[in-house]
Amino acid sequence: MTDKNYFSENTIDPDPFVQFKTWYGEHQLCGIENPDAVTLATASSDGHISARTVLLKEHDEKGFVFFTNYKSRKGLQLSSNPRAALLFYWPESGRQVRIEGVTEKVLDKDSESYFKTRPKESQLSAWASEQSSIIPDRQYLDKRYDIYKNLYSDKPVDKPPHWGGFRLIPDWFEFWQESQFRLHDRLTYTKRKDLWIIERLSP
Ligand SMILES: Cc1cc2nc3c(=O)[nH]c(=O)nc-3n(C[C@H](O)[C@H](O)[C@H](O)COP(=O)(O)O)c2cc1C
Repeated sequence: MTDKNYFSENTIDPDPFVQFKTWYGEHQLCGIENPDAVTLATASSDGHISARTVLLKEHDEKGFVFFTNYKSRKGLQLSSNPRAALLFYWPESGRQVRIEGVTEKVLDKDSESYFKTRPKESQLSAWASEQSSIIPDRQYLDKRYDIYKNLYSDKPVDKPPHWGGFRLIPDWFEFWQESQFRLHDRLTYTKRKDLWIIERLSP
């Protein structure tokens, strides 16, 4: 049960990025595994929708960044239709956050910097995995991993050109807080010109 004044138009931050930072920070403290996991929904230009989990790696007023293979299903969908949605569900606090907007590729030099921080095994996997393509069996994948392991046995692993980040630049947020009798609180932010308009939706 939430206190009536706990989450309302009076207490929510006028800036959705600040509000997100507050809730995300509180969620990070819950001690759960993969606190940065988020559902990402994309659609092809002909409206075919798909969703999957990715890890949120950065978030600030510029947007929400995750890393992936640009040739994967999501990567190809985002190339033809950059609109996407992120969905966070945090049962520990009875909260859900929905974010919608347009994606763009992260600058290659920034993807490069992040790639360098990854463990060598993950860097090799980025080469070994032709993400989302059909492969004959597990051995095929292991063999590719070994090829790249040998190739980079005595030197740093280069970032594959098809691997990098996407940044989702939001134009809509919804913050949902569970409340009693299913009378949940839903507050949305919609970007109009340079302003964020806050509105309440019926649960
Ligand atoms: C907890 C979790 C975290 C994941 N993080 C990522 C990620 O950051 N990037 C990524 O490309 N795939 C990640 N995956 C795998 C994706 O869910 C998905 O299987 C893969 O990206 C292929 O999706 P696609 O075929 O729709 O492109 C993660 C899966 C799970 C369960």
